[in-house]
Amino acid sequence: MKIIIVGATSGIGRELAQQYYQLGNTLAVTGRRKELLQELQGQLPGIHISCFDVQTANVVSELGALITHMDGIDLLIYCAGYGNPANELVAEVELDSTATNVMGFVKTASFAFNYFRKQGHGQLAVISSVAALRGNSHSPAYSASKAYVSNYAEGLNIKASKLHVDVVVTDIRPGFIKTKMAKGYGQFWVAPVEKAARQIRVAIAAKKRVAYVTKRWWLIAVILKRLPFGIYRKIG
Ligand SMILES: NC(=O)c1ccc[n+]([C@@H]2O[C@H](COP(=O)([O-])OP(=O)(O)OC[C@H]3O[C@@H](n4cnc5c(N)ncnc54)[C@H](OP(=O)(O)O)[C@@H]3O)[C@@H](O)[C@H]2O)c1
Repeated sequence: MKIIIVGATSGIGRELAQQYYQLGNTLAVTGRRKELLQELQGQLPGIHISCFDVQTANVVSELGALITHMDGIDLLIYCAGYGNPANELVAEVELDSTATNVMGFVKTASFAFNYFRKQGHGQLAVISSVAALRGNSHSPAYSASKAYVSNYAEGLNIKASKLHVDVVVTDIRPGFIKTKMAKGYGQFWVAPVEKAARQIRVAIAAKKRVAYVTKRWWLIAVILKRLPFGIYRKIG
């Protein structure tokens, strides 16, 4: 399979790159930190790398160039994401999260969907979060932006079905995974990144529409969705 992972210099994206590579796939990885991309290329000879910021780059031309080098792709995973929980509401942080998790995401997802539609098949996997399910006082933009990602993914699945095209969009909703991103309050069930990446691969291979990672976060999702605001506001 030919795969692009957007946001693979660290954490979940990097681990996914390593696992997909070990399984013999053709890979391209992106991120802003060039030295980490080059380090990964040293570890995984033959992978393609592209250094760009999803907020500011011409994402269409960056991804288009990668696809040309790879002579097509089957799967694109949008793993780039940012959020910084704090008690204070800092506009710069909120806008930064929104620019990466929403604007960068839309540029990538719309390009990928249209590419796969034209090709006649393909899969887009997006990493949202269990945080997408409710508002969060510590990182309002992060939870709102992840809700946007999940909602957008559902919209694209419906669009693919109406267009009768073989394009699948998989919304991965992680709970806490042990990466530098996992710095929120009251963490529990923190999963190793290797285990999370394994479960993400399985969900993608099964062409799931929505998958909670690790799997037991499904239970938290059910509870979160049903919790009355009066109770939720004490923890959210
Ligand atoms: N860890 C968790 O507990 C958890 C839970 C739920 C959801 N998630 C989601 O999982 C995804 C991966 O996060 P992670 O935990 O693996 O954190 P991470 O190690 O911080 O990885 C984030 C990745 O996104 C890239 N990125 C961030 N901003 C970017 C930008 N403006 N342009 C291009 N690339 C950018 C980073 O690369 P550069 O810095 O090199 O650009 C990095 O490769 C995120 O979407 C996150 O929201 C994580």
